[in-house]
Amino acid sequence: MAQFSENMDVPDMGRRQFMNLLTFGTVTGVALGALYPVVNYFIPPATGGGGGGTTAKDDLGNNVSVSKFLGSHNVGDRVLVQGLKGDPTYIVVDSKEAIREYGLNAICTHLGCVVPWVAAEDKFKCPCHGSQYDATGKVVRGPAPRSLALAHTAVEDDAIVLTTWTETDFRTNEDPWWA
Ligand code: FES
Repeated sequence: MAQFSENMDVPDMGRRQFMNLLTFGTVTGVALGALYPVVNYFIPPATGGGGGGTTAKDDLGNNVSVSKFLGSHNVGDRVLVQGLKGDPTYIVVDSKEAIREYGLNAICTHLGCVVPWVAAEDKFKCPCHGSQYDATGKVVRGPAPRSLALAHTAVEDDAIVLTTWTETDFRTNEDPWWA
């Protein structure tokens, strides 16, 4: 019993410190919690990691260099890279200086074939069952039920960073079916 009451006394100081720590921890936690959205606001999704940014890769798995990319393709080209989740994704060459602000997931919305770009016809044509998509990836002929998925593109340090497109699909004015 003596040992027990000794133990009750000794941790008393410890308990106070513990309570102080707990209070401090709670206050800090609340402060950090309140700061989080503010900090998050200032960090671009592509670099913050919270937005799920993915650096576009070539077929060898190396980061695509935008300067080399623009130097080696023509305006209007749609060029495949590895995009979000490793999906084949078309990057559109808008000019000799810029890529378009969205990329197109190349996976056919019918049964998943990779849809080639047919420049001569200005459309994507799926070889599997004949679906067609216009130059923006909007479905114009079935059996594909939906347009190609969009992804945001941004250029950072000569790399292409892709993030999920969660806004309205500007081609259909509908919510994105992929997000
Ligand atoms: Fe593309 Fe069927 S998979 S049309």
